[in-house]
Amino acid sequence: MERKILRRDEVRKFDKNVKIHDVLFMGVTLTPVFLTEEWHNFEFAEEDVLLVTYPKSGTHWMMEILSLIHCRGDPKWVQSEFIWNRAPWIEVDECFNHLKKNKCSPFISSHLPIQFMPESFFKSKVKVIYVIRNPKDIIVSGYLFWKGVSYAQKAESLDQFYDWFMEGSVPYGSWFDHVHGWLSMREHDNFLLLSYEELKRDLRNTVKKISQFLGVELGLEAIDLVLNNCSFQVMKNNNMSNYSSIDESIVNKKESPIFRKGVTGDWKNHLTVAQAETFDKLYREKMKDLPSELFPWD
Ligand code: A3P
Repeated sequence: MERKILRRDEVRKFDKNVKIHDVLFMGVTLTPVFLTEEWHNFEFAEEDVLLVTYPKSGTHWMMEILSLIHCRGDPKWVQSEFIWNRAPWIEVDECFNHLKKNKCSPFISSHLPIQFMPESFFKSKVKVIYVIRNPKDIIVSGYLFWKGVSYAQKAESLDQFYDWFMEGSVPYGSWFDHVHGWLSMREHDNFLLLSYEELKRDLRNTVKKISQFLGVELGLEAIDLVLNNCSFQVMKNNNMSNYSSIDESIVNKKESPIFRKGVTGDWKNHLTVAQAETFDKLYREKMKDLPSELFPWD
């Protein structure tokens, strides 16, 4: 892909959703900082840990888990610092600036497809945690979330969002392309692939796996603290993590809670049999080049 690199003064906030290199990005609040020279020259530090997800894959859950592992289960930090400061979104201008000025943790978050990563990323040994989730659950979670976000293109119905998802015309582009791009790193030592499903199935062992990857030793008591403080209910009630301070005009939190149901397989309550079958057909076609063992659903 030929990268478009712009000067800072050429980059404006989008006033609507736009496609860049065939990937849809949302307008109004998002400045496409990832098109600037400054971004292109951004240097990752040796100790950085990059959390990458396709939206609605359990990003906030993982941000909380990482924060808690970092503090060996002590919840003081997650109770006193906003989640977006603990693991700033590298592609959001305000967060990118925060990251450069007041870096307070090794964690960086992103939904960006791999081809938008700055050049230094590909030369660095930065640790990458990539969380995947059953795409049919992502469709449902995504539809219900984006429709209450003022700066996102709103689908009139789940049927319409489903069609957009199948075409890849949703924020951050095609799920299939996102997964293919990031999984190209799956054999690298600095890459850890996790899934929402394994977090749900065996959180304790997944937390141990993550702490080993990060090189953080956790005793039994610390693991218990991590598990208790990252539970769905505790996070939903934590004002530093539940977006309660975000203005209603940006996200309608009643309509679009980040902490909605927190279960696997909710797609069965929303997609029709025909939609699920058509999706599965496309999935088989698009994913046939990747080992099915990587994906713990179906
Ligand atoms: P649902 O909409 O299916 O409930 P992201 O953080 O990437 O936006 O993902 C949001 C999804 O993760 C939502 O899924 C949300 O409920 C779920 N989630 C967030 N925190 C969770 C937790 N502690 N345990 C389980 N699921 C969680």
